Amino acid sequence: MPSITNTALIGLIAAVGASAWKDQCEGFKANIPNVVMKSTYYPAGALVNLTSPSSTVNTKTLPAFCRLALTITTNVTSGNQALTEVWMPDAWNNRLLGFGNGGFSGGVVYSSLSYDGVLQGYSSFSTNTGHQSSPINGTWALNDVNAQKDFGYRAFQLSYQAAKTLTEQYYSKSISKKYYLGCSTAGRMGLVEAQRYPKDFDGIVIGSPANPVARLAAWNIYQGRQVLPVNGTRWISPATWSVIHKEVMKQCDGIDGLVDNVIDDPRQCNFRPEAIACGPNDDRSTCLTLGQIAAVRALYTDWYSSNGTFIFSRFEPGGEVAYATSYVSGPNIALGPEYWKNMIFSDPKWDYNTLTVDDVFRAIQSNPGEIDNNGYNYTSYFAGGGKLLHYVGLADQIISSGNSYNTYNSISAFTKENTNMDPYDYYRFFPVPGMNHCNGGDGANAMGGNNQRSAGQPPLKTDAAHDILAAMVDWVENDNAPTQLIATKYNNNNATQGVQFTRKLCPYPLKGVYQGGDQNSSDSFTCM
Ligand SMILES: *[C@@H]1O[C@H](CO)[C@@H](O)[C@H](O)[C@H]1NC(C)=O
Ligand SMILES: *[C@@H]1O[C@H](CO)[C@@H](O)[C@H](O)[C@H]1NC(C)=O
Ligand SMILES: *[C@@H]1O[C@H](CO)[C@@H](O)[C@H](O)[C@H]1NC(C)=O
Ligand SMILES: *[C@@H]1O[C@H](CO)[C@@H](O)[C@H](O)[C@H]1NC(C)=O
Ligand SMILES: *[C@@H]1O[C@H](CO)[C@@H](O)[C@H](O)[C@H]1NC(C)=O
Ligand SMILES: *[C@@H]1O[C@H](CO)[C@@H](O)[C@H](O)[C@H]1NC(C)=O
Ligand SMILES: *[C@@H]1O[C@H](CO)[C@@H](O)[C@H](O)[C@H]1NC(C)=O
Ligand SMILES: *[C@@H]1O[C@H](CO)[C@@H](O)[C@H](O)[C@H]1NC(C)=O
Repeated sequence: MPSITNTALIGLIAAVGASAWKDQCEGFKANIPNVVMKSTYYPAGALVNLTSPSSTVNTKTLPAFCRLALTITTNVTSGNQALTEVWMPDAWNNRLLGFGNGGFSGGVVYSSLSYDGVLQGYSSFSTNTGHQSSPINGTWALNDVNAQKDFGYRAFQLSYQAAKTLTEQYYSKSISKKYYLGCSTAGRMGLVEAQRYPKDFDGIVIGSPANPVARLAAWNIYQGRQVLPVNGTRWISPATWSVIHKEVMKQCDGIDGLVDNVIDDPRQCNFRPEAIACGPNDDRSTCLTLGQIAAVRALYTDWYSSNGTFIFSRFEPGGEVAYATSYVSGPNIALGPEYWKNMIFSDPKWDYNTLTVDDVFRAIQSNPGEIDNNGYNYTSYFAGGGKLLHYVGLADQIISSGNSYNTYNSISAFTKENTNMDPYDYYRFFPVPGMNHCNGGDGANAMGGNNQRSAGQPPLKTDAAHDILAAMVDWVENDNAPTQLIATKYNNNNATQGVQFTRKLCPYPLKGVYQGGDQNSSDSFTCM
């Protein structure tokens, strides 16, 4: 008998295993009504080079997986369709993971499927939500109630059903647990699922949910109007935003006991822009004019209608570097106007300067496509044992972080008022000081949030202590509710350039308080 080394034997078994998976993938047929499917097998380390209107991957780092590209007819009468992909790794961890989208996109999120999905062993799915478009283009919704409904919830729900069935058929095994991970519009989609289809997921992790869209899309315009037009009397240039940032830090960085260029709780910062008002002889690039002071005051104040009804939260002090590059830095406030043009007024020529508070309250009522949740009732999800983890960057430049506090407080209050459940047993909220929208910023921001890995900001370790999705798995499967998370700030927000510092993120209302010692180590902080 020829002798065979152990290494060669292992290689042989792996090759046979891979070839079996390849055959299984390429020959995989499933008969799901209204779904057309195409399968492609990617061996470990194969080039995966895919582009959709919202995401691109170009990598050779993925493990072996079977890619199913589905076309789902969401309404047979109208013929509306969703493009959905299900990626199933050979080395499956027995779990299903669903992802959502950003803005008004419009495309399968390949970055999520790759880095948050198959690379972590999950059978993963993502949908274009029923249309192809960039995140800031809403023309697909014009006079198309089916497209609106698909974006609201239907395309994702049908994708979930298909992904669940296909995964179980492919592996001939039932799924052990089902998870969801998403930030921004994807955060809204996670909340919608928890409320509408409370049995679908065991654990839902959301960041900065874009919900309610009716309020958010109005606030985008309201904030923009505070500073526009470009070069007008209230205009704030990027250079002036830097001046404001310096003064914000001077006034508020130390409130949390540590001067570290991160404001831990910006709600405690009552910024006074008049402190840098221009005197008669001041260089205008180093101070604020009266118009700019008025604009800053409005931007940093919660928005109420004239009869005292709350509409949306303010920009939080500390995020100025990002505010300078966001929609208030120019007329690029497309996300807001697209909603009103295409879903509310059905008028591509509608002028955002005409938006009124009455329009906002009417849009909240009409809720096209049912894209916004109905109040704060999540009791069915919690009663079924479902867990919800929620994070938000406190320097979020797209959706005020105050919206996340409102969501958390309102859901918790509803649960307490209407059930015997303690919402803290099901729902925890982790504010991330200094993080921008979903990732980036000056604070410790890498903690396993959606699409952080693909942005070069992976968690320091893929464990329950550092990675919010791993923490969710530990909560669901081992009943270890997360009491803290360690987040990492990389040099230049780039993991290949090394760790700058780590911090503790704490479940609200706790905060990570400095106890003395090395400021760069999370060990020097305690949640209290
Ligand atoms: C990836 O795909 C794009 C577009 O299809 C193509 O231009 C590019 O050459 C591909 N990259 C590699 C490394 O094959
Ligand atoms: C499907 O589309 C048709 C035609 O637009 C519409 O009348 C019907 O209400 C839609 N059905 C559902 C379930 O959305
Ligand atoms: C939005 O998409 C539509 C349809 O694809 C296209 O005609 C339009 O130019 C796009 N608008 C912008 C601002 O990109
Ligand atoms: C605003 O002013 C800057 C500097 O003077 C100028 O370069 C720019 O073109 C102006 N932008 C507009 C939209 O007027
Ligand atoms: C305040 O005004 C809005 C918009 O006009 C209206 O919808 C709302 O009912 C009013 N609220 C109260 C308390 O009067
Ligand atoms: C919350 O929603 C559930 C499911 O729809 C419903 O059974 C329950 O009555 C609602 N709770 C309240 C207080 O409205
Ligand atoms: C991260 O840093 C490395 C090494 O300096 C560089 O090659 C890479 O392009 C950076 N990545 C990003 C996303 O900037
Ligand atoms: C913390 O990190 C900064 C650089 O980010 C460095 O200048 C400082 O020396 C570090 N402090 C300690 C105690 O290591």
